[in-house]
Amino acid sequence: MMTRHFLRDDDLSPSEQAEVLDLALALKADRFSRRPLEGPQTAAVIFDKTSTRTRVSFAVGIADLGGVPLIIDSQSSQMGGKESIADTARVLERMVGAIIWRTYAQSGLEEMAEGTTVPVVNALSDDFHPCQILADLLTIREHKGQLAGLTMAYVGDAANNMAHSCLLGGVTAGMNVRIAGPLGYQPEPEYVADALALADTVGVDVWIGEDPIEAVTGADVVITDTWVSMGQEDEKAERISIFSEYQVTEELFGKANDQAIFLHCLPAYRGFEVAAGVIDGPQSVVWDEAENRLHAQKALLTWLLDQQ
Ligand code: CP
Ligand code: NVA
Repeated sequence: MMTRHFLRDDDLSPSEQAEVLDLALALKADRFSRRPLEGPQTAAVIFDKTSTRTRVSFAVGIADLGGVPLIIDSQSSQMGGKESIADTARVLERMVGAIIWRTYAQSGLEEMAEGTTVPVVNALSDDFHPCQILADLLTIREHKGQLAGLTMAYVGDAANNMAHSCLLGGVTAGMNVRIAGPLGYQPEPEYVADALALADTVGVDVWIGEDPIEAVTGADVVITDTWVSMGQEDEKAERISIFSEYQVTEELFGKANDQAIFLHCLPAYRGFEVAAGVIDGPQSVVWDEAENRLHAQKALLTWLLDQQ
């Protein structure tokens, strides 16, 4: 069997994504029912960028699955340019059952996956945050009862990891996806082309544009993310000015479907990408979304290990 990895949202087909989400719901209902890491086996969780949710949810999730999490960072290991990714991959696979990595370049994750026989999971890169979207889809399914046919609108920095993952993950789930951001901050054309091809097969619409009102009007799900992603701190002032018209205000959120829900991967910056009245309001599901990182990732790891 070829080792399966999860480096970007469309690494799971629509039916595989649905299987993982079904399993996530089952694991949420019966937390210790699957123990694929019983032994215990160790899973390595590597951080080149900071994290609260991802770190905690993987550590707790690996323990729930019967395993031992080994949290590593580039400063205190030989990673981060000191040793090649290919050599690191060959060493890790001799000892761990899975490699989960938060890093900068998507190409680094691809190199890691090429160099190892254990599953590699993207815990956020500059280009994608696919574990987050799995949790988001689980949250939407819980609150809306379905995914297929719903419309997701993402507003703000439309060139970042969350925008790309909404695009590919949302389409995979059978959702219509709208992405609004200023010119110059819209999704990578290569990923748009991939999403359009997939949308054609799945039978959903993809809209990419500048107007946040057009994106949000009538949507069932509204999502935003920080305007300043990790690694972009030097551009903070410029970015706050570029995205200032893209805040999810109560007025903008009011254009969505009456029953719309608001999601944000967190950490959130109230008064910038989202108004406090929206994220702390009755239609916000951000705390369920944060909890669902645990259940979605446990399901993903179980599914990937089942394919080994
Ligand atoms: N949403 C998310 O990935 O949060 P952390 O950066 O805290 O892991
Ligand atoms: N786009 C954000 C997501 C944080 C979870 C970042 O990359 O910093």
